[in-house]
Amino acid sequence: MSKLKTSFQCQACGYVSPKWLGKCPDCGAWNSFAEERDAPKTLRASSRHGATAPQPLDTISGGTEQRKPLGIAEFDRVLGGGLVNGAMILIGGDPGIGKSTLLLQAASRISAQLGPLLYVSGEESPEQIKLRAERMQVNSGGILLYPETVVETIVATAREVKPAAIVIDSIQTIYTEELTSAPGSVGQIRESAAKLMFFAKRSDIPVFLIGHVTKEGAIAGPRVLEHIVDTVLYFEGDRGHPYRILRTVKNRFGSTNEIGVFEMTDQGLSEIRNPSELFLSERPQDVAGSTVVASMEGTRPLLVEIQALVSPTTFGIPRRTSMGVDFNRVNLLIAVLEKKAGLHLGGMDVFINIVGGLKIVEPATDLGVVAAIVSSFREVPVPPRTFLFGEVGLSGEVRAVAQGESRIKEAAKIGFTRAIIPRGNASRLAQDFGLTIEGVRDIEDVIESLRGRG
Ligand code: TYD
Ligand code: MG
Repeated sequence: MSKLKTSFQCQACGYVSPKWLGKCPDCGAWNSFAEERDAPKTLRASSRHGATAPQPLDTISGGTEQRKPLGIAEFDRVLGGGLVNGAMILIGGDPGIGKSTLLLQAASRISAQLGPLLYVSGEESPEQIKLRAERMQVNSGGILLYPETVVETIVATAREVKPAAIVIDSIQTIYTEELTSAPGSVGQIRESAAKLMFFAKRSDIPVFLIGHVTKEGAIAGPRVLEHIVDTVLYFEGDRGHPYRILRTVKNRFGSTNEIGVFEMTDQGLSEIRNPSELFLSERPQDVAGSTVVASMEGTRPLLVEIQALVSPTTFGIPRRTSMGVDFNRVNLLIAVLEKKAGLHLGGMDVFINIVGGLKIVEPATDLGVVAAIVSSFREVPVPPRTFLFGEVGLSGEVRAVAQGESRIKEAAKIGFTRAIIPRGNASRLAQDFGLTIEGVRDIEDVIESLRGRG
């Protein structure tokens, strides 16, 4: 009998080693190695897309992809305009965030417009899914429920049924019989995904994969998976809030950094077309420590409220907490305010929060954080129809940011009347959009502007 060939694989990143290791030399994870039987070489890269020999690029036909909009505008946007034939789309997110709900809604649209859809569920029973569909009142006539977890069987069935699209809920429950390791291990996930990818490209049928996210926030097991698929979407949000954001992380068929905004209701997810209005709807008027900042999410401007609470420290060391913005960035801004504007924050606790459970990584929010801190520290409210944006540098200078006009236009639409923005942006504006524009050069200018009229 031939000896079974096995190797050890890091379950976090897929690194392969001939013997067991305590720490992965690639990603640094501890105790992440598991023994797996070596994968048979089922897939050769050259055969994946059906091409057999090199050919000149301009002789290849079909340069424009056919996009099929699902009719869920927020979903179509993150896909880059619609569904592309043969695309493989991975949707990751925390358990319970609403991935199955989102895809059931998408499935209903797809089956109504493009034909029957194969919904492969390895996690929930058909009865459970039926109950959910009833609760959401989705049209489920064209959805073929398929409780199966063996990838070879799924592919064979799909080949027979020829559905308009396939949903796999979730990739962690799917396994191939060629490997002995348990479902959910890196080897299994990678092999199953590769087989599905192969099928998607050959048959031109789009495949949606649902993937779980680990405690650290990566899609469980496989960074390998993110490399295989065409599009990676993250579905995120705060459990305590009804808002959910679908974010593009990778897209071979469109731009990244697009977002779709949804609200979780009793009847499933509903789209939010004007998120700025929603995020500002409960904004307290004339309260110190609250400001509005115009940030960009992809091509879309989004106005959000930033709150700061600055209060004297009761214990020795001041506490700094930030939710929704980068903690280090907040510390940096506090240091700049101390050094360049002479604000005595050394004995103060500072808490920063972005309302609605949003996370914003854009440096243009700096000015909002600065204004919120100054406002709370001085107990002087920022006038309600004033908004800001701009990046703050280490010497206290305010730097211009991209897409100034879109931000101002959005704010004007919602009814803002005054903008405090980088001078670099202000000087480049072709028109004022009916707002009072104040170009600021450094944070002292900002503080001066906030002290001024409202
Ligand atoms: P689900 O789609 O099962 O999450 P995932 O597949 O990401 O694990 O959604 C689960 C949560 O969504 C659950 O806590 C209940 C909530 N929910 C609603 O609030 N309204 C609804 O109509 C549905 C279907 C779910
Ligand atoms: Mg689910």
